[in-house]
Amino acid sequence: MTTDSTRLGESGTQQRLPRRRALVRATAATVAAGITGFVVGARGRPAASPDDASPASSAPEMTVSARGSRQAGVDRPVQPQQHVALSVYDLPAAAHPNAPGSDFVRRNGRLLAELGTRVLTLTTHGGDAALGGFPPGDLTVTVGVGPRVVTAVDKGLPGARELPRFTREEMPDSARGGDLMVQVCGSDPQVVTLADGALRAWLVKHSAAPSWAQHGFRPSARPGRAGQRVLMRNLLGFLDGIVVPRTPAELEREVWLPGPARVRGGTVAVVRRLRLDVARFLAQDLAHQERVIGRRREDGAPLSGGGPDAPMDLGAKSAQGRYLVPAMAHARRASPNGTGSGLMLRRGYSYANGPEDRGLLFICFQRELRTFVATQQRLDDGDDLSAFATATASGTFLVLPGFSAERPLGASLFP
Ligand code: HEM
Repeated sequence: MTTDSTRLGESGTQQRLPRRRALVRATAATVAAGITGFVVGARGRPAASPDDASPASSAPEMTVSARGSRQAGVDRPVQPQQHVALSVYDLPAAAHPNAPGSDFVRRNGRLLAELGTRVLTLTTHGGDAALGGFPPGDLTVTVGVGPRVVTAVDKGLPGARELPRFTREEMPDSARGGDLMVQVCGSDPQVVTLADGALRAWLVKHSAAPSWAQHGFRPSARPGRAGQRVLMRNLLGFLDGIVVPRTPAELEREVWLPGPARVRGGTVAVVRRLRLDVARFLAQDLAHQERVIGRRREDGAPLSGGGPDAPMDLGAKSAQGRYLVPAMAHARRASPNGTGSGLMLRRGYSYANGPEDRGLLFICFQRELRTFVATQQRLDDGDDLSAFATATASGTFLVLPGFSAERPLGASLFP
C-alpha cells in the first residue's frame, strides 16, 4: 500500500512535516474513537487480515483465532483481555549463532514451528489437556524473537536492533533484552496461568532459559458492545491508551510491517516493567496529578480544553501566557507531534508484586523501533511523570508474522 502516510513513514527530514500533519489528523480521530469507543460497523474491523478465521471479539466465551496473516494479541481482540502473563526467555544458541557447527537456524526454526503448533492446540476448545478442561475462551498467545535471533538471520531486518540504555533503569542483566517473548492474554486468569505454565514447561524442556516474567491485569471493563474498546484506568487512576492507532488505516501505517517478506505481517514490540511510586503520586493534589499527566483524571480530557474527545492543543496558553498543557506534562512530552516519531499501539497492563513493587507493564507495538526510542529519549530529557517511574525490566522483540497449521510460526524468518 502506498498511501501518503506509509511513504512518509520512512525516515528523513523532508518527510517529517507531512507525516506530522497525518499524525495530528490521526490524533484527533483516535482521541474521538478512544473516548466514545471504536465502532466496528462504522469503520470496519481493525486490521482485519484476509485469512483471519474468526472475527475479533471482546466476549470472553468466544475464542480468538490464533491463525491469520498476523498474530493475535496485538490489535485483536479489540478490547485487550483482562490478564496477561508475559515471559521472556534466552535461547542457548542465540549467544553464538555463528559458532562452528551451530545449527541455530534449523534448531530455532523447528522450535518456533512446534511452539506455534502448541499455541494452536491451547487456543482450540478441548484441544489441550494442559488447560485442565477449562475452555480457552479469548486466550491469545503472541510470540516475538529478540534482536540476537533476528540479527543471526539478517541484521538489516526490523527487530534486529537492541534498545539503547535509558535513564532511571534498575535492572539486572537477566531482565534486559532476551531472545523469545511469549505474551499470553485472556479474560480468565486461571486459563492464562495454565497456558503460560504449559508453554514454559515445554520451552524449558527444549532448552529455553526463562529470564524474566510478569503477570499483569487491567480493570474489568464494563462489557462493551462487540468490537468496542473501553479505555483502562492505570494504577494512578488515569485513563490510559487514549492516543493510539485504531482505525485499520492507522494500524496499517503505524503498527504492521509491510515487508520485507520475511517479516511482513509482524510488528516490533517493546516491553518495559515500570515500577511506579503510586503512593507518592496519589499523595499529590488532583490538580497537580493532572498537570503531571496533561489530562483530566475524570474523563481524560486534555488540559488545553474541550471535551474528552478534543485533540490536545499543545499551543494553547492561559491569559498569563502559560501553556495549559504544562511543558513537562507526560502527554505533551510523549506526543508524536513533539517527538516527530510514529504512533505506537500501547497495550499495557498494571502489575503488583507486593506493595513496594507495582506499576505498569508497558507493552507497545510499532512498525519502527525508533518510534519508541525517540519517545523514551524525549521523556528522559524531561517528563514530570518519569520522576515517579523506574524501569526494572526491558526488551524489544520482533513479533513474528501470523501463522496457521499450514504455515508454521516463524516459517518466513527460518524457511
Ligand atoms: C511510567 C509509566 C507510564 C504511565 C503511568 C503512563 C500513562 C499515560 C497516560 C495516563 C497518558 C494519557 C492518556 C493516553 O493518551 O493514553 C499517556 C499518554 C502517552 N504515553 Fe504514557 N505512561 C507511562 C509511560 C510511557 C512510556 C514509557 C511511553 C513511551 C516511551 C509512553 C508513551 C505515551 C504516549 C505516546 C502517549 C500519548 C501522548 C499523546 O499524544 O497525547 N508512556 N501515558
